[in-house]
Amino acid sequence: MAVHMAVKLDLVDALSAADGHTLTADELAVKVVKAEDKAESAALISCILRFLMSFDVVSCSTKKGPGSAVLWRYSLAPRCWWFTMNNGEGSLGPVAVFDVDEPTALGGTPAYNYFRKNPRLSTLFDQAMAHQSLLVIRKLLEHPKVFDSIEVIVDVGGGTGATLALIRGRYKHIKGINMDLAHVISEAPSLKELFYGVVHVAGEMFGSVPSGDAVLMKWMLHMQSDEECMMILKNCHKALPDNGR
Ligand SMILES: C[S@@+](CC[C@H](N)C(=O)[O-])C[C@H]1O[C@@H](n2cnc3c(N)ncnc32)[C@H](O)[C@@H]1O
Repeated sequence: MAVHMAVKLDLVDALSAADGHTLTADELAVKVVKAEDKAESAALISCILRFLMSFDVVSCSTKKGPGSAVLWRYSLAPRCWWFTMNNGEGSLGPVAVFDVDEPTALGGTPAYNYFRKNPRLSTLFDQAMAHQSLLVIRKLLEHPKVFDSIEVIVDVGGGTGATLALIRGRYKHIKGINMDLAHVISEAPSLKELFYGVVHVAGEMFGSVPSGDAVLMKWMLHMQSDEECMMILKNCHKALPDNGR
């Protein structure tokens, strides 16, 4: 919850932008809070940061302030890197925001049915997935053998296409087919933008999967029953040639 608040209130990115300099809770309140009562906000910010300090997510040093006051000055601890936006290198920050908002909102409704009716949560989820994908896929790209002799790769449940855009950015000969539910694809960036070379397909993995040389599924099967996994994997198998992967 404290990480969630620190990301949601932009405290993490404000500390990151300070570029190694320390900031007090008052200075942070001026940067991130729009409300009039910055003193009250600074007290809350201070609670959040002291809690995070006890888990080494932020660092803190103290200095003597005016009179007998002690000034607590905060900066990012190394592990906080995972929650900053990192100039587009990937982040777990949006996942931390989503993980707290989501169970409150779902109230027992299966997640993807709920997202269909709630564009705000759907967008939050798609962004969370895209940012964490950057972290994982950038590592995968360091292994060219994985992509050897693939001409068409199908990302089943690929969200708004961030994974395939990264793969295409490095391996330009590969054509990407990004398949996801219609309401997710409707949010995907248009082909004219960054995603040149990625074709978006609205579909249902329990029905069929587009054909390609390789099928990619990331963070897809953990949420399905054994029977559902079998159904999806059979559809993937049908979509592949004999030497497919
Ligand atoms: C946990 S996310 C993973 C997204 C992406 N693969 C990643 O790792 O960033 C699951 C994805 O599966 C999609 N999905 C869920 N049910 C689906 C279905 N029946 N057919 C196709 N896609 C589905 C969701 O819309 C969502 O984008």
